[in-house]
Amino acid sequence: MTERLSAAQLDRAASLLRDGALVAFPTETVYGLGGDATNDRAVAAIFAAKGRPNFNPLIVHVAELAAAEPLATFDDRARDLVRRFWPGPLTLVLKRSTACSISRLASAGLETLALRAPAHPQAQALLRAVRRPLAAPSANRSGHVSPTTSDHVVDELDGRIAAVLDGGPCRVGIESTVVDLSQPHAVLLRPGGVPREQLESVLGLVAGATDADASRSPGMFERHYAPARPLRLNATTVAPDEALLAFGPPLPGAGATVNLSSAHNLTEAAANLFAALRTLDQPRFTAIAVMPIPETGLGAAINDRLRRAARGRAN
Ligand code: TXA
Ligand code: MG
Repeated sequence: MTERLSAAQLDRAASLLRDGALVAFPTETVYGLGGDATNDRAVAAIFAAKGRPNFNPLIVHVAELAAAEPLATFDDRARDLVRRFWPGPLTLVLKRSTACSISRLASAGLETLALRAPAHPQAQALLRAVRRPLAAPSANRSGHVSPTTSDHVVDELDGRIAAVLDGGPCRVGIESTVVDLSQPHAVLLRPGGVPREQLESVLGLVAGATDADASRSPGMFERHYAPARPLRLNATTVAPDEALLAFGPPLPGAGATVNLSSAHNLTEAAANLFAALRTLDQPRFTAIAVMPIPETGLGAAINDRLRRAARGRAN
């Protein structure tokens, strides 16, 4: 069974991680499935616990820039982004340094490394206590919806990891923005908690990912984040045998409704998204109907996850 640890037991979480065990921990985006990123066995165990294909690289978490600098090449663009958005929901893909101590498995054999400094106070405290970088993909089984509470983590991974550190519900609720700076032109590999508009205020125009980027970021184009029920996007009507994921005043007539934000607030909607999908994913419904959500700000990341979910489950 997976141990449930409170904030007061953070030292126990840190010592498990130092010993090579897997511990899920809260970040401001979603819960991460953490392991010592410098330990090949711990990193291999992360892939096994998630059922994740080992060609899909992991994000490595650090407390701050000083801990990240020895691991990868930071140019001026990377430093500008770090100054503005770290700690926070932004992941940078950079060239691995020659002396990089991170397991090659975490990079899935690529010459690049995905790095992020999470803002959640418990993630910060844990990284400082472990004093090693932590590889941490979202703490769900591969292809499933990311967890935003410790209960979700236990639902997904009970018995497959040593412990989960409880930090309450995640504030942002959607995964980090992933931007590739390992080449001359920045590429937005995954929309997320830092909206494109904010990224572009630092970098200028940023290209979106294309099929050509798939080989460098294998996770990007997978079917992903999917509940078992089919999703019907941009719904303008809803049937009694369907569940409704509402945004703003809800459509009438659904079998059940969860409102992402009755006030049309995209920050609130992102924070509620994954818990809402879990709540509505019940066998008594034929589908989950989703009301339209604007494509601006965090709406782009919300719609990205919903479009992937609508493509169905990978396994
Ligand atoms: O908010 C988040 O980013 C959460 C929390 C726990 O930090 N983590 C997360 O990790 O969402 P994961 O593994 O579920 O998603 C990481 C994404 C994957 O799509 C992966 O393909 C991509 O980042 N990625 C990781 N390393 C990469 C690399 N070196 N080059 C390109 N893409 C990379
Ligand atoms: Mg994930």
